[in-house]
Amino acid sequence: MFEIDLKKYKKYDKPGPRYTSYPTAPQFNEKFTQEDYIDEIVKTNYGNNLPDLSLYFHLPYCDTLCFFCGCNMLITRNRDRIKEYIKYVQKEIDLLRTYLLPDRKVAQHHWGGGTPTHLNPDEIDLLASYINKSFEFKESASGGSENSCEIDPRELTKAHLEALKNSGFNRISMGVQDFNDKVQKAINRIQPEDITRQAVEWVRELGYQSINLDLIYGLPFQTAKSFADTVDKIIDISPDRIALFNYAHVPWLKKHMALIHQEDLPIPEVKLEILKSSIEQLTDAGYVFIGMDHFAKPDDELSIALKEKKLYRNFQGYSTNAGTDLYALGITSISQLKNIYAQNYKTEKEYYKSLDDEIIPTAKGYKLSEDDHIRREVIMRLMCDFELDFKSLEEKFHINFKDYFARGLNSGEGGLREMQNDELVELSDDGIKVKDMGRLLIRNIAMNFDGYIERKEDKAKYSRTV
Ligand SMILES: C[S@@+](CC[C@H](N)C(=O)[O-])C[C@H]1O[C@@H](n2cnc3c(N)ncnc32)[C@H](O)[C@@H]1O
Ligand code: SF4
Repeated sequence: MFEIDLKKYKKYDKPGPRYTSYPTAPQFNEKFTQEDYIDEIVKTNYGNNLPDLSLYFHLPYCDTLCFFCGCNMLITRNRDRIKEYIKYVQKEIDLLRTYLLPDRKVAQHHWGGGTPTHLNPDEIDLLASYINKSFEFKESASGGSENSCEIDPRELTKAHLEALKNSGFNRISMGVQDFNDKVQKAINRIQPEDITRQAVEWVRELGYQSINLDLIYGLPFQTAKSFADTVDKIIDISPDRIALFNYAHVPWLKKHMALIHQEDLPIPEVKLEILKSSIEQLTDAGYVFIGMDHFAKPDDELSIALKEKKLYRNFQGYSTNAGTDLYALGITSISQLKNIYAQNYKTEKEYYKSLDDEIIPTAKGYKLSEDDHIRREVIMRLMCDFELDFKSLEEKFHINFKDYFARGLNSGEGGLREMQNDELVELSDDGIKVKDMGRLLIRNIAMNFDGYIERKEDKAKYSRTV
């Protein structure tokens, strides 16, 4: 499928955003206040056809540290600490509810982490019942709501999954990363294959609608051969969806990543080779390649959304629920309404203090300008559809695309003309089409439309694109 001249593409290995938002998180700042957030929430209550709600709950606690972890997590075995956190999330729900119209329906509900199943079954039940009584969910007659939870198979019991199912969850996403023993040891995540298989079996027995498994390529000691064995096992397990993440190694931001030795990491050429063969293995097995790092069975909603050009990208990756208002609760979580991003405090202490003072716990955020809206749409369509149609963007935003993006369409180093010569994209008078190889470097392509990418201080915050 892909012909990769690995040497040719090595030059594209540079720091770059993953574009789960635009502008990306380094642009969020403290000039954006709780009042700005509340103003925007209140504005969302007016008008016809109000968007449905997406709810995200961040449950940061984990039992042990995975050395590769880039998530906002806290390692603890202190049950009182977890109980205290649940109490404060409930407070945040109450506070948010005072600003939102009561009849707005939830279309999507996600628990992420950390490890939500580090809560025990009773705690799951406690928090989920509170959420269920505080919000109205879409009825099954109108498609119902998508309720998903991230789990870690290593500390899971069937009772956890029963508690989630009884609380209305219908989708499960679990971390696997890699089945190879040597890799698991190097990342401090020992997860024998039978534990993953057992968890999948329980999920199926309990009648969940969908299972996603997470893999990471670029971890220490991975080779094309070793990772192909992992992918073969995943194909045999046959989940509905697979996320294949590029390992974001940022030890200057996440100190524990220094426990992974640079010299043990696969070099960029090997990473591209692993990616290429994994894509081939998974597509040969019948999975559809979605966006830059997801795979789904052909009848899965993600595959259908891709076909219908209704795919959408947010902080959880690719999604089918475009146009919802995303309210994110818990420490570090980021809410997204039409015109703003708002991020909560990062520490329990600040988060609790704000809630004790009855103040929405927004630490910082961002209000989009018209230019941000235009660039966000361009980057989102590129990341989801792998093509751009200039005319539809010109009509939507009243711009002349080629004039507006004269710099992005330039012939400089790493610019789109060079990418055309390197067979990553096809440029025409009407638009841009991303070629197969370009999909693997879609972050680099999108960077040509990012209005902030030249800022040196931001570059230091991004992982490498290959
Ligand atoms: C919150 S965890 C999933 C649930 C649970 N905590 C677990 O690990 O099984 C989210 C996923 O992010 C991915 N991830 C974490 N750190 C990463 C990194 N540095 N680079 C790429 N992916 C990463 C992993 O695939 C992980 O499964
Ligand atoms: S990968 Fe998952 S289990 Fe491991 S530390 Fe990160 S959030 Fe916790």
